[in-house]
Amino acid sequence: MSCSRKLYVIFPAAGSGSRMHSDKNKLLMEVDGIAVIDRTLSAFKKFADEKDIDLYCVLVVSPGKIAEWEEYLDGKDYSSIICAITEGGDTRTKSVGNGVAVLEDYSPDDNDAVFIHDAARCLIDTDSISRCFDAICNDDICVCVSGVKTKNTIKMVKADTDESPLVESTPDRNLLYEVQTPQCFKYGVLTECYFEASAEGYEATDDTALAEHYGYDVRIVEGSYANIKITTPEDIAIAEALLKNMH
Ligand code: CTP
Ligand code: MG
Repeated sequence: MSCSRKLYVIFPAAGSGSRMHSDKNKLLMEVDGIAVIDRTLSAFKKFADEKDIDLYCVLVVSPGKIAEWEEYLDGKDYSSIICAITEGGDTRTKSVGNGVAVLEDYSPDDNDAVFIHDAARCLIDTDSISRCFDAICNDDICVCVSGVKTKNTIKMVKADTDESPLVESTPDRNLLYEVQTPQCFKYGVLTECYFEASAEGYEATDDTALAEHYGYDVRIVEGSYANIKITTPEDIAIAEALLKNMH
């Protein structure tokens, strides 16, 4: 069954940016003159405008910072897409869980699409967003994640690593994907996964891993190698270099 032309997006933005080693919130750092958060939110606004989709976004920010963020977002040309700002938790899973709880106020249908997108992935392109939206809304997929084939050879090591970890195996590179965000769900599946996870205190490194844990099929939808997460200082320079190729 296909869903409506509505898209709900939860943006986890409540991290501390510890690996950026900066006093400034990494989401407010500029990439080629535009703040990371502005780029991220503008990309989704552009997608919604191009495809005529009603967009409902929840921004999840650090505890105590809601008023600061409201002031920052006031008057931005994308501010109309933000329907709520809520406080996050000390892990990404908890932050997303708080965002999921807020969505209930907007009464989504079980088949509506909900994306979780790292605020720090500011080079997200409208084609990647669109492929994910089509997967959830037109292809009857319940859960999917944007991803790219890994370019590197990856070694699996024994769990008890020391200074020179012992290699256990070399997985076939053709079967390895690096996943990104958006991580995408039908609303009914998302709420079930987060409800179960919070009941049993289960934490996962990414959102679709929760769905795997509860037995759902998770599909990978073609993402973009440029959809990097701004994590360490050199990522700003990498993002600026990538942008030069994107226009
Ligand atoms: N995030 C969140 N709540 C947390 C941790 C992370 O909402 N408790 C968000 C971040 O704000 C970011 C996204 O999840 O947009 C991806 O996380 P990451 O890149 O790891 O950001 P930080 O956790 O802020 O950075 P670091 O791990 O270096 O401290
Ligand atoms: Mg983190």
